[in-house]
Amino acid sequence: MAKKELAAKPGRKNKQSGLVCDNLSFAAAESYKLLRTNLNFSLPEKDCHVIGVTSSVRGEGKSTTSVNIAYTIAQSGKRVLLVDGDMRLPSVSTKLEIHGAPGLSNLIAGLSSEQACLRKSRYFDNWYILPAGDIPPNPSELLGSERMHTLLERYQEIFDVIILDLPPVNIVTDALVISKWTDGLIGVVRQNYTDRRALADCMYQVEKLGVKFLGFVMTDAAVGEGSYKSYGKYSKKYGYGYGYGSDYGYEASHTSSSGSKKKAFLDAAGDEAGDTDDSADQKEDTEAQG
Ligand SMILES: Nc1ncnc2c1ncn2[C@@H]1O[C@H](COP(=O)(O)OP(=O)(O)OP(=O)(O)O)[C@@H](O)[C@H]1O
Ligand SMILES: [Mg+2]
Repeated sequence: MAKKELAAKPGRKNKQSGLVCDNLSFAAAESYKLLRTNLNFSLPEKDCHVIGVTSSVRGEGKSTTSVNIAYTIAQSGKRVLLVDGDMRLPSVSTKLEIHGAPGLSNLIAGLSSEQACLRKSRYFDNWYILPAGDIPPNPSELLGSERMHTLLERYQEIFDVIILDLPPVNIVTDALVISKWTDGLIGVVRQNYTDRRALADCMYQVEKLGVKFLGFVMTDAAVGEGSYKSYGKYSKKYGYGYGYGSDYGYEASHTSSSGSKKKAFLDAAGDEAGDTDDSADQKEDTEAQG
């Protein structure tokens, strides 16, 4: 079934946020499209892919990468759910300027309804966000709980891709406890910041669990004089290193048998799915950037 590609609503003017949806730059947007394409080749044929984004330590660009890859996949017409799985230092809601609670923690704990927690993005009708929610005392227990597993299984019937923004592996166990339910992880490394031994430790811990890295994104990577020079603060290249994975074609094979079921959920959820916080953006859809 061909999926309808929905046009992007206009992003806010470039606020140097590092987000593609803020009209970051053509070059950065293209880098994320390249990442999307390579992810397609790294993932096995399935109705829904669950992809975690993590790194070794704090501040390497995980949340920025999560938001940008979720946006870029949604731009291709797939039904995307971005989950802020960093309940200790959540930032997806801040970056996307939506309410951060109630969200994942409240939903897992059974304290809030799905309708109250899921937000539809202001950019695409096929992109939903589940913010982290109220900060709980036991994030790793919640993330590794059977309720979290059930929730993920349920959302796999509704969405085509689920992106999990996770905390760093070397600091807390949160990313490790949930990674067993993913199809793989995207590792983020930051140039002149990520420590080689810390990264090796991170990779060891992940692979010890039998979870694989689909590839790595390098953030803050300086490029030589020339092509990216005119892009201001973000004149740095949003590069990535392509990791290992299967050779299955994902985009071409994506003829989901559960497509109509997924569409029915999203149609029903509509704008009632939580606070969309898009009052400032009531303009007509326009063509996606890039
Ligand atoms: N590709 C990039 N190039 C330059 N700066 C970046 C890039 N990606 C992120 N940043 C900047 O790095 C800082 C940290 O980014 P971000 O919040 O995405 O990191 P994080 O790994 O999620 O952090 P935390 O571990 O605290 O959750 C932010 O100021 C962000 O704007
Ligand atoms: Mg983060």
